[in-house]
Amino acid sequence: MAASEPLSDRHVDELIRKRIAELEEIPFAPRADLPFIVADWTKTLRQHQRWIHLLPQIQPFYAVKCNPDRCLLRFLADLGLGFDCASSAEIQLVLGLGIDPSRIIFSHPCKAISALQMASSRGVLLATFDNSDELDKIKSVSPNMQLLLRVYAQDDTARSSLGKKFGAHLNTTHSLLLKARALDLKVVGVNFHIGSAAFDPKAFLTAARDARRVFDEGRELGFDMTILDVGGGFQDSNFDSMASSLQLAIEHEFPGWNVRLMAEPGRFYASSYYTLACKVISRRKHSSGGDSSAQVDMLYQNDGIYGCFLSRLTEDGSFAPTLIPVDKGYGVSRSQGRHIYSLWGPTCDSVDCISEGAALHCEAMVGDWLKYQNMGAYTAASSTSFNGFPNVYEILYVTPRLMSGRETWGEVPLRQVVIQEDASCN
Ligand SMILES: Cc1ncc(COP(=O)(O)O)c(C=O)c1O
Repeated sequence: MAASEPLSDRHVDELIRKRIAELEEIPFAPRADLPFIVADWTKTLRQHQRWIHLLPQIQPFYAVKCNPDRCLLRFLADLGLGFDCASSAEIQLVLGLGIDPSRIIFSHPCKAISALQMASSRGVLLATFDNSDELDKIKSVSPNMQLLLRVYAQDDTARSSLGKKFGAHLNTTHSLLLKARALDLKVVGVNFHIGSAAFDPKAFLTAARDARRVFDEGRELGFDMTILDVGGGFQDSNFDSMASSLQLAIEHEFPGWNVRLMAEPGRFYASSYYTLACKVISRRKHSSGGDSSAQVDMLYQNDGIYGCFLSRLTEDGSFAPTLIPVDKGYGVSRSQGRHIYSLWGPTCDSVDCISEGAALHCEAMVGDWLKYQNMGAYTAASSTSFNGFPNVYEILYVTPRLMSGRETWGEVPLRQVVIQEDASCN
């Protein structure tokens, strides 16, 4: 099947419409006023297809923090991915799905002692570090771990920069390696992360050059350096150019080397997996309320920055919803044509603003719904129940109808993939 075959947007829209119709029947039930999500595994499958097409030799370890949806994890496990975990809870979640510990990297350079102990006792042995105290902790709790030295890397244009928090600078890597050797620890390679939602292809060139230097330092000190982990930062919009820059960087710095290549993509796999439906719970019209200000009319919806829209604050994210009008059938007419609204979350907090000017195809009314695509990355995973608005999302899973009879999806073998109809994903 060609990569361009239309996927299941129609199925997603069908599910949304059906669910809205059901909720219309129970207008006083609290769940009628909660946002809900449609999860579409075919979108994630397409991303995997793109990955293996452009980065075939780099094994992806999905970054669980991005979206720990159990069905997504199960699906990615079936596709053969490994997992990047950053905490005890994430490791337990992945192990609880029956995934072998050898398919997990504990990719957090600053780990709690209890988490280190838990990881190594459960057989998770690959981990990152970037500072001297971490080596002391590892020596005392889990000296048999295999370690990747995380080196500083930074794309200044990335939406979420990680370099200011993590990564050993090149003037410290040699002494860290010396200390690891003195402690008789096993350093097996290098890891970096150029920043989440990265844009600058040159960042990979710099990061690979620095990684190569640390490889050389490690080998000179006698370490068996065999793994290069290129981290995350990949996104849908510029994947092709970032992937080709990464390939060039690896070919240039590690020509013909027999190195095991891994990556930790999160957003790239998870973003398109979720479509979020939010209900308009209130509206403030400036134009008809005697208010002569030039302010746009305001819509208040049932999810905001304390829910799935945190990236508006953390990454300056922007959102372009599609209006799903729900006509009540008692003669209220809506004006047609493009309308601009500011969009607000449900809390009493004025920072809870999703957009200052979203264009909708016609007038929006209380009881309508707004559909947001690409809401699978860093959304429900970081939501809170601030102000009493629950961070509980009903998730409707697109069923595996599209899968039936297929052995492959593009280049992706599907024989191992089991999507459960009941979405329990255990
Ligand atoms: C260590 C690590 N690996 C991987 C990721 C995933 O990054 P992304 O979602 O940009 O691919 C992150 C994100 O913060 C991270 O901190």
